[in-house]
Amino acid sequence: MKFRIGIGYDLHRLGPSTSLILGGVQIPHEKGLIGHSDGDVLSHAITDALLGACGLGNIGEMFPDTDNRYKGVSSLKFLRHAADFIRKKGYEIGNIDSNILAQRPKLLPYFPEMQAKIAEVLGIPPNNVHVKGKTMEHLGIVGAEEAIAAEAVALVFLE
Ligand code: CDP
Ligand code: ZN
Repeated sequence: MKFRIGIGYDLHRLGPSTSLILGGVQIPHEKGLIGHSDGDVLSHAITDALLGACGLGNIGEMFPDTDNRYKGVSSLKFLRHAADFIRKKGYEIGNIDSNILAQRPKLLPYFPEMQAKIAEVLGIPPNNVHVKGKTMEHLGIVGAEEAIAAEAVALVFLE
């Protein structure tokens, strides 16, 4: 099979943390995402989509949250590591599409910077990474601003 697709999903709890980082971009907000790493749900979802596309496990296996080496690290490190790993297995990355599910803050202004950052880390052209946003119409835990979630798909191909 020359082309393969993968899906990734992640959710983290919002809490009184000082920093909200999505797609590697620091976003001003009164709450932040709680996680072992920096809680960057978008980077986690994309990492899982890439690993899933190649049938090579998942982020939790590759970077266990019991491992203190990953405490507080930038999740862009996970993305970079996953990209290196799948390239070593002969895969190249096609494109990434994604959604961030967040009631607040307004993320639209930050999408270009997230796209550029993720593309740079993955070593692909910026127009091959797309990030979109959805509120949850004030419904559920995302709508209540208790969590932010992200989902992503990745296309990979054999070189
Ligand atoms: O209009 P619709 O219900 O489809 O979408 P929405 O979830 O109400 O989002 C409206 C617009 O706000 C879209 O352009 C989203 O990309 C943007 N948005 C955002 O900038 N930040 C969020 N946290 C959620 C949505
Ligand atoms: Zn996560």
